[in-house]
Amino acid sequence: MKSKIEQLKNDALALLEKVSDRENLEALKTDVLGRKGKLNELMKEMMSLADDERKVIGQFANELKGSIESAFGDKERFMFEQEELRRAEDEWIDVTAPGNFPDAGHLHPVTQTMVEIEETFKKIGFTAARIPEIDWDYYVFESLNMPGDHPARDDWETFFVDGPEGPKGKLVLTPHTSNSQVRVMENQKPPIRMININRTYRRQSDTRHLSMFHQFEGLVVDRGITITHLKGVLDYFAKTYFGPNRTTRLRPHHFRFTEPSFEIDISCGVCNADPSVNCRLCKEGWMELGGAGMVHPNVLKSGGLNPEEFSGFAFGWGVERTMMMKEGMNIDDIRMLYKNDLRFVKQF
Ligand code: PHE
Repeated sequence: MKSKIEQLKNDALALLEKVSDRENLEALKTDVLGRKGKLNELMKEMMSLADDERKVIGQFANELKGSIESAFGDKERFMFEQEELRRAEDEWIDVTAPGNFPDAGHLHPVTQTMVEIEETFKKIGFTAARIPEIDWDYYVFESLNMPGDHPARDDWETFFVDGPEGPKGKLVLTPHTSNSQVRVMENQKPPIRMININRTYRRQSDTRHLSMFHQFEGLVVDRGITITHLKGVLDYFAKTYFGPNRTTRLRPHHFRFTEPSFEIDISCGVCNADPSVNCRLCKEGWMELGGAGMVHPNVLKSGGLNPEEFSGFAFGWGVERTMMMKEGMNIDDIRMLYKNDLRFVKQF
């Protein structure tokens, strides 16, 4: 019996010596030390021995079991260390090597322009408003002094949404941002200084027009607001956005929601509106920027304000156009902005 046990130990240790991977090590361990393993088999055989003999052999067997277990333990530790060393070798990294920088994008040039315009007006106390870009006829036309079938509505080539009318008329894809005027007056008492930038839609598409574009709208309402305030704000914008030499001029125009109404021109950045220069860019010194005017009394009334007490001005025009007019832009087709051509977009 004793020699059987010795034999088992020697066989086990010899096999253990040869084992070179974890899987085989586990298998051998189960085979020798497991519940149904060889050692337990021998232990069972020992049950049939006489009492005093079993005691001696039992002790011997236990000692051997201990030494087999510790041999397995040593082997396990050895293999673990080997594996760690191998891994350290395989997975070696140079922590001082420069990393791979992910391609960081940037805001779309039109978005950049919107941010810049908003920031420019915020600096002189304007607050950004968020107004629906799909709105009721009432806010887009009716409340702006353009009732029912007024022909002035034709100036805006408007998309109407197919669907039932609400109490404020049909739903409209806003063709301008002026729907913000009465909406803001309904929610806020003067002094009002708001800037609203939003998507706008018109039935048009060519090198200078898109069916989806952006506009920004400014509205100032308070006691004693005059055209000089309007002119001051427009000049401030021209100088801040386009450059310190630029200035604006107001030309009489007509809008139903402002009275008087103006078209705003900005002095040409090349000839500085000097009539003695024969400028190839602007031809006459000035370039058309957008529309503006003093808020019409009927619009103030729509907004719940007394025109005897309050006055105000409004202005609005296209974001893309503004961007394209900036010096050095050289964009001759507005549709380039939305082609998603990275070669174009990456230049900004
Ligand atoms: N909403 C006008 C347009 O789209 C511009 C405008 C805004 C005119 C505010 C006057 C006042 O053409």
